[in-house]
Amino acid sequence: MGERIYIFDTTLRDGEQSPGASMNIDEKIRMALQLEKLGVDIIEAGFPVASEGELESVKEVSKVITRATVAGLSRTPKADLDRAWQGVQYAAKPRIHTFIATSDIHLEYKLKKTRDQALKEAVEAVQHALGYTPDVEFSAEDATRSDWDYLCAVVEAVIEAGAQVVNIPDTVGYTIPAEYGRLLDTLRKKVANLDRVILSAHCHDDLGLAVANSLTAIQHGVRQVECTINGIGERAGNASLEEIVMAIKVREDQLPFYTHINTEELYRSSRLLSSLTGLQVPANKAIVGKNAFAHEAGIHQHGVIAKALTYEIMTPESVGRPASSLVMGKHSGRHGLRKRYQELGYQLSDDQLNEVYTRFTALADKKKEVFDEDLLAILSEESRSVEEAVKLDYFQTVSGDHTVPTATVRLQMGDRSVLDSATGDGPIDALFNTISRITDTQGKLLDYSVQSVTQGKDAIGEVFVKVNFDGLTVIGRASSTDIIEASAKAYVNALNKYYAHRDAQKPIPA
Ligand code: KIV
Ligand code: ZN
Repeated sequence: MGERIYIFDTTLRDGEQSPGASMNIDEKIRMALQLEKLGVDIIEAGFPVASEGELESVKEVSKVITRATVAGLSRTPKADLDRAWQGVQYAAKPRIHTFIATSDIHLEYKLKKTRDQALKEAVEAVQHALGYTPDVEFSAEDATRSDWDYLCAVVEAVIEAGAQVVNIPDTVGYTIPAEYGRLLDTLRKKVANLDRVILSAHCHDDLGLAVANSLTAIQHGVRQVECTINGIGERAGNASLEEIVMAIKVREDQLPFYTHINTEELYRSSRLLSSLTGLQVPANKAIVGKNAFAHEAGIHQHGVIAKALTYEIMTPESVGRPASSLVMGKHSGRHGLRKRYQELGYQLSDDQLNEVYTRFTALADKKKEVFDEDLLAILSEESRSVEEAVKLDYFQTVSGDHTVPTATVRLQMGDRSVLDSATGDGPIDALFNTISRITDTQGKLLDYSVQSVTQGKDAIGEVFVKVNFDGLTVIGRASSTDIIEASAKAYVNALNKYYAHRDAQKPIPA
């Protein structure tokens, strides 16, 4: 079985920093609970100094997580470290993760500090953090572009100061596997006290090498890997958790290691994240993409039917993907529905079941066949965790090649019911303009996408909108067999998120 690899998930911190991935506190809590179910060892919950909202969410995540370590990120100043502790102090197992850049390019142009100053600050930060918790991690930002001798000196000094985990990030996704391996070997050779700590890898995907680099790092002595669900993260993203974990599992012959990840929760984790953030997973993405287990070519299909192993190196079930099976029709009862959700890994409360059942019967009336994917879409639709200050009551659109596209919408806002109309470049634009007019908001639509959940012309369409209201960017999503209705609901969902977020997101004064 080999040695254990600790999985440090940074979906809620580095992942959440990726454009459009922001989540509110409730959404972060839901994601954190799913990560705990998935079995990650460390959840990096956020960067508490970034904003009041960020601090609150780190606190709330710390309170609900019972088994995993909860880490808060911090730069080296004492005030940052104090703030990180404020966030993680409620955790059963708190960690402070402090970092400073060690590459000359960062030191000179970003920090305007000398190498000596940065080393001193790194040591002082570790010492200060140790006053709060023995679990302190240090990261040498941009380690892979740093001078190797200087990096060795910093690593040795922070270990001497008491850091428990030392992370060697490839911050800009620049290194290649052989080079990263050599860097880690050099650290092992030159840093006398390295065996006192867990060495960690944190790879970005700018050259598409984040997973390859992380696996190489494991082969060169790293025992903690930092990664994110669906590989979300700054720019091209971070190393993808599901790919690293499944590579270790499937290629145990080459990688004699193990993790504590419950791989059957991988697909659910991926889906939850994309439904919370609106960041869709590319169809060809390994492990969790729509096509990852689809066999299109006849020769492949024939092979898989004869013996799955011909073209399948792992089963869809091993990563928790439902077989795309026909589940039921409009005569199926609540009991059957609850049971099918249980089989898909979801325990529904009675209230949830009632809500979901209403949607299910409405869908079954419209669609001949209801698939597992449809049930998952209904569930994520139902669990959009936001207070509904505005509700879509009624809509109608008119469009055509000789007509000015027009929408009429009635919204319920508390006790008030308001009906109005507006025109637009198309029916969806007209809908959004009408909603803006009724609510007196000026949302700027940054992104719009629609994706079918299953095949067929009666498939559910999932609509995602990214809208900026007063400088705050939010994601709205909704699904329906009618994509115009889904679009209106997605926009209203974004508006409700904006109303819910606007107070929590105020930045902290410097
Ligand atoms: O990419 C990076 O270097 C980071 C550190 C803060 C760990 O995210
Ligand atoms: Zn990073």
